[in-house]
Amino acid sequence: MKMDKFNKTTSLRRVRQVQFLPCYQVTILTCLILIVFLFVFTLNHHSFPNTSTGRARSLLSSSSPEFNGGGQWEKLVRQSSTPRKVTGKTVLVTGAAGFVGSHCVLALKKRGDGVLGLDNFNSYYDPSLKRSRQAHLSKHGIFIVDADINDADLLKKLFEITPFTHILHLAAQAGVRYAIENPNSYIHSNIAGFVNLLEVAAKNTNPQPAIVWASSSSVYGLNTETPFSESDRTDRPASLYAATKKAGEEIAHTYNHIYGLSLTGLRFFTVYGPWGRPDMAYFFFTKAILDHGDITVFQAGDGDKEIARDFTYIDDVVHGCVGAIDTAEKSTGVPGGGQKHGPAQLRVYNLGNTSPVPVSRLVSILECLLGRSANKNTVRMPANGDVPYTHANVSLANQDFGYRPTTDLTTGLRKFVKWYVKYYSIQTKLVRY
Ligand SMILES: *[C@@H]1O[C@H](CO)[C@@H](O)[C@H](O)[C@H]1NC(C)=O
Repeated sequence: MKMDKFNKTTSLRRVRQVQFLPCYQVTILTCLILIVFLFVFTLNHHSFPNTSTGRARSLLSSSSPEFNGGGQWEKLVRQSSTPRKVTGKTVLVTGAAGFVGSHCVLALKKRGDGVLGLDNFNSYYDPSLKRSRQAHLSKHGIFIVDADINDADLLKKLFEITPFTHILHLAAQAGVRYAIENPNSYIHSNIAGFVNLLEVAAKNTNPQPAIVWASSSSVYGLNTETPFSESDRTDRPASLYAATKKAGEEIAHTYNHIYGLSLTGLRFFTVYGPWGRPDMAYFFFTKAILDHGDITVFQAGDGDKEIARDFTYIDDVVHGCVGAIDTAEKSTGVPGGGQKHGPAQLRVYNLGNTSPVPVSRLVSILECLLGRSANKNTVRMPANGDVPYTHANVSLANQDFGYRPTTDLTTGLRKFVKWYVKYYSIQTKLVRY
């Protein structure tokens, strides 16, 4: 995906510029960086881990006070996580520069909670979109720490600064087909990173936070019972992504059982909307239709059900996330780990829209909204991880925290398309529809 014009200020570019400096300038620059580094390190040696790649990269781009781990950085962390309301929660949101993360962070902040974001800004999709979300959030006083969830020292440091009451854990390697290209990134984020976060939450916090985290509807895999209910079998994942999310649910069970962590997994169903992810079909279909490019639409085999998704609008999902946070009970573990006062809450919920829409219908809605027709290439769906059909039963979330999706696909896509043309400064006439 080429979006070069939004890529102006990436650190990559900065590094490249540095390489072209004459040799003596580089030496002077290196000395200066070293001096600054030693100074900061002496002040904060106990609070300044330097082991992870995330930290190393942060140091390289220390042109702003945000990433240097010093007093100014701590102040930003503290300010962002202080609730405006006395009764407000303090929530650490991982994946805060992501699609669902950025929306949740804003909703929590707006109602008076203290919120700190964390994101590693990886380049699985255009990082400039993540930076734009970050810039948007910083206008609301939200700070996002540039770090990886695998960085245990950093997580401990954050809990030293703020005893978060909740973690909303949304950081993950997303996407189904990308696992064929880069399987290890799924293990790194969805398994190792999740375990690292749970370890810190179990052993290095006092009191322990309650954790709400993103599982996925993909855990239903090749399930044929519809709608998908939480009690349905989830032992036939069709992709490595689904397998790592399913593993996450089992790992959550373990940490709940041993350490008394309160854990709620949310199975998201094809979330879409403004500020969405460029790797998702509704997003790249929109781009292709506007660019007069081709789109590939998957078709089911003969006699199979039509390919359909239970598309869920972002605002509905945000309500679900907030509802899960508000009904999460306290963890029961004894800080330090290994003991608990009693059983802790362990939950899993579907967050879907309850009305599957065929992908062909998605395309025709976009064609109508954009006032153009798509060059469609219809092919048989390959077995590369996608499941043919999803449909959520959300009665459990409805019963426990009043979850009730209210946005149909046309309404939601209209909002998405409106955002899209504005964000990418595209001159086009949108059709009212
Ligand atoms: C939806 O899930 C609930 C449990 O949460 C179950 O009682 C109900 O039968 C399910 N509905 C359908 C149509 O499967």
